[in-house]
Amino acid sequence: MAVRSLQDSAIDRRTVIKLALAASIPGAWRSGHALAQPALAADPFSLGVASAPSGPGAVVLWTRIVPGLDAQIARFSKLATEDYVATRRSFVEPGGSLDVRWELAADEGFRNIVRRGTSAAPAELAHSVHVEIEGLDPWRPYHYRFLYGDAVSPAGITRALPAQAKRLRFALASCQHYEHGYFGAYEAMRADDPDFVVFVGDYIYEGGPRDSRFRIHPFPSARTLFDYRLRHALYKLDPSLQKMHRHCPWVLTWDDHEVSNDYARDTGEDLDIDGAARRTAAYQAYYEHMPVSANALVERFSDVRMYRRLAAGDLAAFLVLDDRQYRDRQACQPQGRGGSSVVEDNACSERRDPARTLLGPEQMGWLRRELSATRSRWTFITQQTAFSRMMRNDRGHRFWTDGWDGYPAERARVLGMLAEARPPNPVVLGGDVHTTYVCDVKSDFDAPRSPTIATEFCGTSITSPSSFDARRMAALVDANPHVLFGDGMRRGYLLADVSAQNLQVRLRAMDDVTQRVPKVSTAGAWIVEDGKAGAHVLQG
Ligand SMILES: [Fe+2]
Repeated sequence: MAVRSLQDSAIDRRTVIKLALAASIPGAWRSGHALAQPALAADPFSLGVASAPSGPGAVVLWTRIVPGLDAQIARFSKLATEDYVATRRSFVEPGGSLDVRWELAADEGFRNIVRRGTSAAPAELAHSVHVEIEGLDPWRPYHYRFLYGDAVSPAGITRALPAQAKRLRFALASCQHYEHGYFGAYEAMRADDPDFVVFVGDYIYEGGPRDSRFRIHPFPSARTLFDYRLRHALYKLDPSLQKMHRHCPWVLTWDDHEVSNDYARDTGEDLDIDGAARRTAAYQAYYEHMPVSANALVERFSDVRMYRRLAAGDLAAFLVLDDRQYRDRQACQPQGRGGSSVVEDNACSERRDPARTLLGPEQMGWLRRELSATRSRWTFITQQTAFSRMMRNDRGHRFWTDGWDGYPAERARVLGMLAEARPPNPVVLGGDVHTTYVCDVKSDFDAPRSPTIATEFCGTSITSPSSFDARRMAALVDANPHVLFGDGMRRGYLLADVSAQNLQVRLRAMDDVTQRVPKVSTAGAWIVEDGKAGAHVLQG
């Protein structure tokens, strides 16, 4: 199916990839292809700016030219589904490619410009701009901004990952559900001043409105490219989120809600017939709204390579995984629907089927090679969901089938790789479950005395709630002795300080997720010493 069926413009996917690659390379786009810069009545930079580290000495800068966004959102808000669809049908997206200028400077005042250029913002990519810059001084802060006509974007700060580093600080975040609060956690995160943010998925939620919530999604469930663009725009308008993107670069991967709940390859929870087209549309909108390198586009938007290695010199390597795009469907799905469930071990032998995969064979092969090759002091396996066993001991031995517990043979293969390759100080980072977990990663979770071969920190969520209250959490921790800490009640993020000697991680928890600027305090702190897998409590 061509992209044409998903949006108004007539363009095939291969052309989109060509556009993306050409548009992202500074100077590669001939201005003859682009329109002159017509003046815009409204601010074209209302979605802000963002950046991400890519290869050594390299960053991606992002913005999207979208004037009059407030009016567009208002026009589509709170309509009945059929009215929304009719309005969507009559909506004409602005066409043409725009020339957008950009500047990278050594100083805040943009007096000392280090690089400047012009990049294309093609209509086919929602007038998004992706600028790939190489050859930067590692770890040096640079200021960047975009210019279009008379408009100047807000300025952001970026930096390429260090060639060498004595220490670095990053924040681990995930799961920002619009309906459950403001993204005020980012106000405190900014004050904590991380070098970069590691975001492990659920940047948007795709669902329709639910009445009982703090604020409601004003649109029906996202299914088409138009819908996902509107959804990303809605989320990106959060001022705290925009400020955090301006503060530092982000290391990104995605989870399920960037497409649909619990999706596995092309199958979502509702077993939709248009799963492949929906996923392709969602991936394209994600690309259009994020500082993702055009090199991630393998061939088309149905095949985007998010798994990659990012190295912070000899101090830390981040092996970023994608556990959605290549996974088998969740085991023992309930009759008539896809997605996950909680299954009793004896009632679901499919869960243990060694043929089932979570990462897919290619990514597993890549991970094996990377784990063997990495020499950085800390090896961060940066992925979406809870890794360690989280057995529920009520009513038998029960497991949730969406996380690694749903794919125990694949997890055992990764544990085997860790035992064999022995990468320096492996630490699993995760999200998805709206719960903070600190775990000793055992070589065999069913044998409590087996060696601890890695450490796991699973982040809480920016806003999304957990169903694990204190009583349920205590029972889960009790049933899983490798879980040192579990908390489903606190929203916020994890703050990690990395040095050659140790890794220190703090749970930064908000008092009230419905405040624009909540109070944030440290609700737990742990340390992992160099050379010794497993966490120890510093506070909490
Ligand atoms: Fe989530």
